Amino acid sequence: MTDPTQIKKGLAGVVADYTAISKVNPETNSLLYRGYPVQELAATQPFEAVAYLLWNGELPDATQLAELRAAERANRALPDDVKAAIDLVPVDAHPMDEVRTALSLYGARDLAGIGSVLDASGTPAENLDRSIRLFAVLPAIVAYGQRRRRGEDLVEPREDLDYAANFLWMTFGEEADDVVVDAFNRSMILYAEHSFNASTFTARVVTSTLSDLYSAVVAAVGALKGPLHGGANEAVLHVFDEIGSADNVAPWLDEALASKRKIMGFGHRVYKRGDSRVPTMKAALDSLVAHYDRPDVAALYDALESEFVSRKGIYPNLDYPSGPAYQLIGFDTPTFTPLFVAARVTGWTAHIMEQLSANALIRPLSAYSGPDERHIDGYVPDT
Ligand code: ACO
Repeated sequence: MTDPTQIKKGLAGVVADYTAISKVNPETNSLLYRGYPVQELAATQPFEAVAYLLWNGELPDATQLAELRAAERANRALPDDVKAAIDLVPVDAHPMDEVRTALSLYGARDLAGIGSVLDASGTPAENLDRSIRLFAVLPAIVAYGQRRRRGEDLVEPREDLDYAANFLWMTFGEEADDVVVDAFNRSMILYAEHSFNASTFTARVVTSTLSDLYSAVVAAVGALKGPLHGGANEAVLHVFDEIGSADNVAPWLDEALASKRKIMGFGHRVYKRGDSRVPTMKAALDSLVAHYDRPDVAALYDALESEFVSRKGIYPNLDYPSGPAYQLIGFDTPTFTPLFVAARVTGWTAHIMEQLSANALIRPLSAYSGPDERHIDGYVPDT
């Protein structure tokens, strides 16, 4: 009989391995990527430099950044067959299903010709190359997904724009203002990495079997889709839509809490006194509220936050400010979680490479709680 205190449901509190990629410190409410506070990176770096940092452990110098940018730009275009696969996904399917399908085909094309599963896990150089290509192509997948749901055509990438500006260009077919590019760039950096969250851990579990990087990323997309994880940024907007305006917050919350609803965008497994990423994303949201002149969005945001925090003592997580920020930029609500994929693919792939560098098969134990041993009536074993 297993001692019940040994069972860590949800693996809560379990330290599963070392990582040098990021440090989440709930005591000091801080998040470091390779030692750098995330708010400093968001304020000073383009997303490409943060991707480089996550993969390589150091920020790039000018030459290294230029090389990464050249590789990223060279791999931005959506391959025709991946576009065709996206077109096969029902237009009213969830965009995360579309992303999962596109990435699965993208991986299969890339690994075609690798005959044996023994060779698929790849060398460090091959996996870095695969990581850069996934990072580069995801904006096209996400942007095209939103466009086709709106009945619009694919927009080809622009070689003269950085990652964030090009992402917005491919989504909306027009150049975004600097304040919008800056807010979007910050959101990508904030979403990029967060230690052993559910989707990253999923990627590490798959990698630990020596499966390939694409399989691990596709599995991570599945984990991220859930509303207790990445799906929450989309769910926040559904909550905002339901509430309507700031003066409806209190009665809406009375009913929601009476029916024991979880309020999306609040709470976190690790941070119990506030998510370290929220102040930076809230500042980005504020800049968008001013840019688009939408004080109503800020009023609803503030009213729900203060009412919920004062009643439950549970604080907003990153999805709370990012949801309305993405809406103001013009992204459709179902596109929000795919945006999270485009950012988090950098963290996932950094973890996949780290897992491979010191691999141990991830295989926990379970405490059996089913019936005692029993037998099929009339069964006579062969002698
Ligand atoms: N709304 C209402 N109550 C909540 C919320 C919430 N958002 N979050 C936690 N609680 C309550 C729980 O009901 C529970 O109360 P109880 O002890 O009376 O039963 C208590 O707080 C503890 O909550 P758990 O769900 O057990 O805490 P856990 O650490 O497992 O959950 C989680 C963390 C899943 C994120 C949870 O807070 C939640 O469901 N939040 C809403 C979804 C969300 O915003 N997810 C985004 C995560 S962050 C990210 O992906 C960027």
